[in-house]
Amino acid sequence: PSRQDSPLYPVLENAAAFYRQQLRHHAQRKRAVDYLQQRGLTGQIAKLYDIGFAPPGWNNLMGHLATDNTEEKVLIEAGLVVENPDSGKRYDRFRDRITFPIRDSRGRVIGFGGRVLGDDKPKYLNSPETPVFHKGRELYGLYEARKQNRQLDDILVVEGYMDVIALAQHGVTNAVATLGTATSEEHLKRLFRIVNSVVFCFDGDNAGRQAAWRALQSCLPALEDGRHVRFMFLPEGQDPDSLIRSEGHDAFRARMVQQAQPLTDYLFRHLAEEAPPDSLEGKAHLATLALPLIEQVPGSLLRRLLRQSLEARTGMDLDSLPAAPPVEPTSA
Ligand code: UTP
Ligand code: MN
Ligand code: MN
Ligand code: MN
Ligand code: MN
Repeated sequence: PSRQDSPLYPVLENAAAFYRQQLRHHAQRKRAVDYLQQRGLTGQIAKLYDIGFAPPGWNNLMGHLATDNTEEKVLIEAGLVVENPDSGKRYDRFRDRITFPIRDSRGRVIGFGGRVLGDDKPKYLNSPETPVFHKGRELYGLYEARKQNRQLDDILVVEGYMDVIALAQHGVTNAVATLGTATSEEHLKRLFRIVNSVVFCFDGDNAGRQAAWRALQSCLPALEDGRHVRFMFLPEGQDPDSLIRSEGHDAFRARMVQQAQPLTDYLFRHLAEEAPPDSLEGKAHLATLALPLIEQVPGSLLRRLLRQSLEARTGMDLDSLPAAPPVEPTSA
């Protein structure tokens, strides 16, 4: 069957319904509900994001959704049931976890994230790649963001499920998350089909800062003139969830307006840390790092302004340079 009418969709939808129901009726539902309340979520937001509960036990979902081997195999293909390659034993992937259905842009469930209720590892489990779920392409919360906004002017990209949901709970309803993978050019293409302005807001930790720089690199080939990308850097140890819970909506918005740096500012600031242009050597080094990045920008006006800015920083007339050989996108 084609991806369009994959038999996995109804199965994933049934799984979401099962987890939703368990959060309302399972004997241990109180643990899950308490956890969500302790994280500041209301029933209303839980409903909007269709949060559920995968109960403890090895075959709750399997027992509920599969009556024979054929149906179990579909659950395996959907990533909901795992088969041990040695013993052949089959068991539910998500056990004793809060579940977050991941939907495609049409609202179909394509996978799940699952969080432990305590401090066990791994903190989050995600659906594996399946015929309908491709992590590097999907953006968690995009369907819900569009549902909550008649028109989206900009989209906030964050790291985690709980960031998206906590932001929405506090009235910031335009956040999406990249599901623990790097922001890809595919993600950017998708975002810029919907909005002209993207704001990245990753965690205030080393992983978050590295993710921001990688995101910048993925953005460059998408930078047509008229598109805006900005970066918001959070105080050390904070993420959007913790920050909006402690500061509230207005302060978070104010931060966004005042502190989000245009991509081009961030680019030069970051490169100047690696190559301070305080000597001729430093200036040459800066130009070496900056040129291959600038040349990736398709917007000819923005590309020209970036070259001018590099000229101002280095005191060099770049147009007098021999044409640069074609550059490979860098990964550093
Ligand atoms: P974080 O470690 O920042 O977690 O990972 P978080 O979202 O703030 O989680 P809470 O607040 O403790 O609940 C960011 C994202 O990386 C992915 C998840 O998508 C997570 O939301 N991740 C993280 C995983 O896939 N697995 C993990 O074990 C951890
Ligand atoms: Mn983090
Ligand atoms: Mn992280
Ligand atoms: Mn985080
Ligand atoms: Mn968090």
